[in-house]
Amino acid sequence: MSDNIESHLQENRTFAPPAAFSEKARIKSIEQYEEMYRESIDDPDTFWAREANELKWQQPWDSVCIWNPPHAEWFTGAKVNITENCLDRHLENGNGDKTALLWEGEPGDKRSISYRELHHEVCLFANALKNNGITSGDRVLIYMPMVAEAVIAMLACARIGAVHSVVFGGFSADSIKDRLEDSQAVAVITADGGWRRGKIVPLKANVDEALASYDGVKNVFVLKRCENDVTMTDGRDMWWEDETAKVDANCPPVALDAEHPLFILYTSGSTGKPKGILHTTGGYMVGTYATCKYIFDMQPDDVYWCTADVGWITGHSYIAYGPLLNGCTQVIYEGAPNHPDFSRFWQMVEEYKVSIFYTAPTAIRAFIKAGDQFVDGYDLSSLRLLGTVGEPINPEAWMWYYNKIGGGKCPIVDTWWQTETGAIMISPIPGAVPIKPGTATRPFFGVDAAIFDETGQPVGPNEGGKLVIRKPWPSMLRTIYNDDQRFKDTYWSEYEGVYLAGDGARTDSDGNFWIVGRLDDVLNVSGHRLGTAEVESALVAHPAVAEAAVVGRPDDLKGQAVVAFVTVKTGIETSDDLAKELRNHVGKSIGAIAKPDDIKFASTLPKTRSGKIMRRLLKEICATGKISGDTTTLEDFTAIAALQK
Ligand code: PRX
Repeated sequence: MSDNIESHLQENRTFAPPAAFSEKARIKSIEQYEEMYRESIDDPDTFWAREANELKWQQPWDSVCIWNPPHAEWFTGAKVNITENCLDRHLENGNGDKTALLWEGEPGDKRSISYRELHHEVCLFANALKNNGITSGDRVLIYMPMVAEAVIAMLACARIGAVHSVVFGGFSADSIKDRLEDSQAVAVITADGGWRRGKIVPLKANVDEALASYDGVKNVFVLKRCENDVTMTDGRDMWWEDETAKVDANCPPVALDAEHPLFILYTSGSTGKPKGILHTTGGYMVGTYATCKYIFDMQPDDVYWCTADVGWITGHSYIAYGPLLNGCTQVIYEGAPNHPDFSRFWQMVEEYKVSIFYTAPTAIRAFIKAGDQFVDGYDLSSLRLLGTVGEPINPEAWMWYYNKIGGGKCPIVDTWWQTETGAIMISPIPGAVPIKPGTATRPFFGVDAAIFDETGQPVGPNEGGKLVIRKPWPSMLRTIYNDDQRFKDTYWSEYEGVYLAGDGARTDSDGNFWIVGRLDDVLNVSGHRLGTAEVESALVAHPAVAEAAVVGRPDDLKGQAVVAFVTVKTGIETSDDLAKELRNHVGKSIGAIAKPDDIKFASTLPKTRSGKIMRRLLKEICATGKISGDTTTLEDFTAIAALQK
């Protein structure tokens, strides 16, 4: 992490927005950005009402924002349906025949879906849900591959006011079960399987395993994707195709309160149990609409591609909702970036003439490692804007992306935000704000970002501190589902009425924000959030394990790698086989992304006199192989001596 700061501090390269880009962009100069930013902070109600008025409401709001820290309500009194804005609005504006989705499966199968067709499919599936008794407010768990039906399922829930909770297809049966229990879901939408690197991920089988110990689910809708064998339980499991054949496509968008829950998305925190982040309808809609419009500068003829999965917040805000709210044409790809080889993305950029491309630094680093031969020869001239998300981008990866992929002519929007923030919070406005490798630059409209010291005072330029947001914003999380106390404790207890992001950051003298990384026990592995406590509780649930401490080690490719220090129970022999078994055990409890890269067996772990594991020391051992920091509170030095060896 400190290497990161050092290299960023020395980063002087600045790239002004290309004139050709700014001319056509919505926001054309830094002055224009600054003027709009000032208005958005000084008079947020006027700013957000103007944005909201570009969308369709079934009943207007009484107040734009009511702020009772830490609880916000946006567009109170209004009635709205987000899918009416994602779909019906475009049909009414004569854009029904415009392509909404250009979908490609991993094996190469393709589908092009117009806004009219998408509207039809969403209405059909929404009626299928209704026909099975699912109603407004019910929680529905979605566990799907990256097929068009994943988006259709989300929108169908939103159409009738059901609250979706999407679980990433790489998560395990145990993870599904935890999320079912926490959200008390009544239905599941899944597929027989999904393609990943030429293999079938057994999605339905994972759902079956989860449902063996949770009996709240009345209906499981199963899409045929891979035609793999699945077991269908009578009276509970039904085929998507059969259920949609039973209904018509007349499904008016239900008028919902602006604060009606839209979705719950689980994310890792610093304790073992993932948090159900709750987002609501009106504010989330306006936030994702406006950020797509200004940050991706979406224009009518753009072809946009975000490579995320709908299992993460990026796939919610910047695949399922934001681009559709803007009436954009977007590419959706089912599989892995390196299947059949690392040229897959660039071949698709050429084929679909992608103009806006949004991916994660970890993917960029993997492309660099694979070699330029996978990029050379593809025509990437359709690209006009690039984006990154999920973790700090190192300057080398940034420069490669800028030159090799963007041909030195595409601005890069490095977008900082979180599951909790719902939409992008800090990012360049591409036609206006000069960019530098490694900084997410300036706050988006309405985002009152600052860096605080321990006492809650803003720090000056170039001083590190905690990243906070001082004013409410439309797409902010409303609470942690069923745990408002945890919501208050996690985000609002350090500084009164101020949102604590959990990231360390600094600003430079130009007002750019440089994000350093998490300050809590949350790792960022390939752009995915993972709680060290989650991995530890999975490890200690294994019968051979006595204690476990998990830390992150800097990793060139993944950003952070997962290292687990493990002590075993008396009488257990440590071995490579046991390490392998433990890795698989974590994979089974959480999902493959959580498997430790390294398991280090230790006879004892370094603890303070009060019995707390000193993770800081373990981290340092991982990063440098030795200890230089303060060890005065350490209880037993032999633990450290053994580990250093
Ligand atoms: O540490 C920050 C990092 O990802 C965390 C949020 O993770 P998650 O909720 O999974 O959402 C990821 C996609 C929005 C943040 O607390 N992060 C995200 N974007 C950036 C970033 N770190 C640096 N630069 C970014 N652009």
